[in-house]
Amino acid sequence: MHILITGCGGFIGSHLLERLLQRADVTVSGWDHQQAKIEHLLGHQRLNLRGADLYACGNDAHLREDVAAADAVINLAAICNPSQYNTRPLGVIRSNFTDMLRLADLCAEHGKWLIHVSTSEVYGRTLASYTGDAAYEDPALYELREDSTPFTLGPVQNQRWTYACAKQLMERYVYAHHYEHGMPFSIIRPLNFFGPRMDFIPGFEGEGIPRVLACFLSALLRNEPLQLVDGGHARRVITGIDDAVDAFMLLLDKPEAGKGQIFNIGNPANETTIRGLADTMRRLFAEAVGDPAYRDHPMHTVPGETFYGPGYEDSDRRLPNIDKARDLLGWEPVVPLESVLRETIAYYVEKYWHVASRKPRTSAAPSSATGTA
Ligand SMILES: NC(=O)c1ccc[n+]([C@@H]2O[C@H](COP(=O)([O-])OP(=O)(O)OC[C@H]3O[C@@H](n4cnc5c(N)ncnc54)[C@H](O)[C@@H]3O)[C@@H](O)[C@H]2O)c1
Repeated sequence: MHILITGCGGFIGSHLLERLLQRADVTVSGWDHQQAKIEHLLGHQRLNLRGADLYACGNDAHLREDVAAADAVINLAAICNPSQYNTRPLGVIRSNFTDMLRLADLCAEHGKWLIHVSTSEVYGRTLASYTGDAAYEDPALYELREDSTPFTLGPVQNQRWTYACAKQLMERYVYAHHYEHGMPFSIIRPLNFFGPRMDFIPGFEGEGIPRVLACFLSALLRNEPLQLVDGGHARRVITGIDDAVDAFMLLLDKPEAGKGQIFNIGNPANETTIRGLADTMRRLFAEAVGDPAYRDHPMHTVPGETFYGPGYEDSDRRLPNIDKARDLLGWEPVVPLESVLRETIAYYVEKYWHVASRKPRTSAAPSSATGTA
């Protein structure tokens, strides 16, 4: 089996690549202009890596060649960082939609199976969040089903939705190619995959605002308060990266079951509020570094618009129904939240604690914080 993976140097790509290359019957063509997370795989005899931008001038012939040679194309490449949705909206729309049209067109032209990795953000806010009390008494108002839940995004000025909207339109484009040209496709909607190598840790691997796991890890390592956006009341399910990669492998092994389908890939048993996530992480961090003081590590509430900038709005809850992945692929996520977090925290503590613990402590609240949780 020959697989083309775009964005193979990112978080999901690096784990998927590792797993695929363990199989002697798989060869991979990978594209990514960043390779720091796959250094250990560079030079593998069954990996043909193109360290380049997929859509840069002059690369189209190579992309066409790689699509033509693939049995399946897994599309992971994207800008997918919440801090950019409202601050770099054009780049986000281009990366998640306009640029990607080319890949879908090539797959359609060559009749190739496109496994497009979208996002659970396409669902937007739950219907329950508009009922006023947001009581979540009726699962029909919050449980996310791939083929029946409506997409509920906010107004245009709330640019936070650029990502969700671009992803949604890309899904529709992929589906349209299937409808008009018979292009085989599957769509994966990930729900918060967590694990080592996710994003970058500010202060150690770059600067900026990554997704929540890396934000909290950075704050713990730098002994700064954990910042809870809008009180950390939003609920998310956390999915271990190994469980997530299992889903991709099952899909590749069961093409007839997975083609033409959209799958939520998330672990409903691991639902937590962001505040609950922060609390669990500081407890597990205390264990990992052997310092019980971290159990009471300070947490501060910060308004979303202060943290992420104007145009930010959050979705309240994302609880997936995963019956389709269970029934068609035989997928069952098994790694509990604490195990996912324990493994991830251990990875970063081993990598950075020796440096972090020698740095001067800066426990003062940041200027953006508006209260203490
Ligand atoms: N990680 C999650 O929990 C999650 C949740 C929802 C959706 N997703 C989706 O899954 C996909 C992968 O996510 P991730 O967490 O691995 O992100 P990531 O940012 O770690 O990886 C994306 C990779 O794509 C590469 N890339 C982007 N544009 C490119 C281009 N034009 N040419 C070549 N390479 C390019 C980047 O360099 C990066 O290495 C994305 O499409 C994202 O929207 C992920």
